[in-house]
Amino acid sequence: MQKIDIHSHVLPQIDDGSQSWEETMDMVYQAYETGTTEIAITHHILRESDFALEDEIIEKFEDLKTRLRSAHIPVRLHLGSELYYQPDLNLDHKIATYNNNGVYFLVEFPMQTIPRYVDEKFFEFIIDGKKPILAHPERNVGIIENPMRAYEFVQRGVYLQINSGSLTGDYGERVRQTAIALLNARLVHFVGSDGHNTDRRPLIIQNAYEIIVENWGERYATALFQDNPRKAMAGEMLKIPEPQPVEMPKRRKMGLLRRLGF
Ligand SMILES: [Fe+2]
Repeated sequence: MQKIDIHSHVLPQIDDGSQSWEETMDMVYQAYETGTTEIAITHHILRESDFALEDEIIEKFEDLKTRLRSAHIPVRLHLGSELYYQPDLNLDHKIATYNNNGVYFLVEFPMQTIPRYVDEKFFEFIIDGKKPILAHPERNVGIIENPMRAYEFVQRGVYLQINSGSLTGDYGERVRQTAIALLNARLVHFVGSDGHNTDRRPLIIQNAYEIIVENWGERYATALFQDNPRKAMAGEMLKIPEPQPVEMPKRRKMGLLRRLGF
């Protein structure tokens, strides 16, 4: 099965991800060895002026493809960005949407809050045919405290991407429980590694894949790791399940969930 990682910081010396070509190659090899077949590269764009990095990013992206061919690592690459939400967010750049498809873009909120007026801004994008993918909502304090906001976003046409490390507990128990609640409500559409390096934040999605197959079934896992990302990379429409309202697990159930291996 194809496994497509739609969120990573792989190119050297662009942001807080890889710092050298050696590290980049190690990260991609780690992904390949653990079953990832395609990687979308999504460096941080924190403000409009960061798009000045566009040419350098494209150049290094092409360079990485050549290096992977020479090293016989058959991983397919896609290019996008992780856009930090700004009220003046502008998608009129080659790296703003995945593979410059003009449709799907990865956007992150500040960790502590859901930005004001973001619903209106997303609505403008959506009626203009753009499709926002919200990066790691399970790590956002506004969503953790009020997960029904995630349901509202999805109802209005936003897609959600959780981090693989959220399911394995890398960001703590509240983040893990929020990721579980979003999966239970079928509000998750993508999984990404958000890989930055080879140790603390590796480019690995396999662990999350196994957890999702075991707890939510192979069909949902295939949608998250293969079908949805394949369509998003190509700028095609996704078929997604009807979103369900989110229920956070009750306190007393947490012991049971733990025994079930969550
Ligand atoms: Fe990221």
